[in-house]
Amino acid sequence: MRVVIQEDYQKMCQWAANYIAGKIKAHKGERPFVLGLPTGSSPLGVYAELIRKNKAGEISFKNVVTFNMDEYVGLPREHDQSYWYFMWSNFFDHIDIPKDNVNILNGMAEDLEAECARYEAKIASYGGIDLFLGGIGVDGHLAFNEPFTSLTSRTGVRLLTTDTRIVNSRFFGNDPEKVPASALSVGIGTVTDSKEVLVLISGHNKARALAATVEGGVSQKWTGSALQAHNAAIIACDEPACGELTVDTYKYFLDIEKNERL
Ligand code: GLP
Repeated sequence: MRVVIQEDYQKMCQWAANYIAGKIKAHKGERPFVLGLPTGSSPLGVYAELIRKNKAGEISFKNVVTFNMDEYVGLPREHDQSYWYFMWSNFFDHIDIPKDNVNILNGMAEDLEAECARYEAKIASYGGIDLFLGGIGVDGHLAFNEPFTSLTSRTGVRLLTTDTRIVNSRFFGNDPEKVPASALSVGIGTVTDSKEVLVLISGHNKARALAATVEGGVSQKWTGSALQAHNAAIIACDEPACGELTVDTYKYFLDIEKNERL
């Protein structure tokens, strides 16, 4: 696992956007580049920078297919807190991606299990995901895989913990009861099957999650820790998120990364 420590949120986002753009540009062949994407506050700066690069003609998303990580159950697309709405308003509406290349789980599907199976099959039909960009919850959850979700889980229905509903209530008028109690989410196994995984971890409130994800053992208690067993996982983080790392670990990653290119 690589841990790329940047001074602040902006620099972390800049680094991640450069990394993603580099991968898209380097991609050759007719098969599209398949990109997994998250919602949340963490990726906003990355999306802003990718939009800038797209508008400046530095990259194109014409040959990119995306799969989002998760979606609330029971929120229609046009609800301003649906992840569908989030993704279109914060990213897809501003880049040159063909509409049909965007995949987002449908939390309003009549048969939710069938919807999840369809999603997994569609990912497989492209030959898997090239790069999965992710964020992490304060309890270390990756996508909506709360603590104790199996590390081999696939796309499915997830119940949200009270903690997560409280954290996410900031988008629902600070009322945790208004946050849907369940969601559809790719599994930890779905994410770790990707060729590469890049997870953004920013801010003091994620410091415990970062330390557990990187320094703790691989454990279903911190589902993001499954990345330790991945061949090509990167965590991009900022200084405030490093507050709970041991000094040794912190110094190790600064040292080892100083000669790395992107
Ligand atoms: C939600 C999402 C996750 C996201 C997490 C962190 O629970 N389901 O995919 O990573 O929030 O969000 P933020 O980046 O806003 O801290």
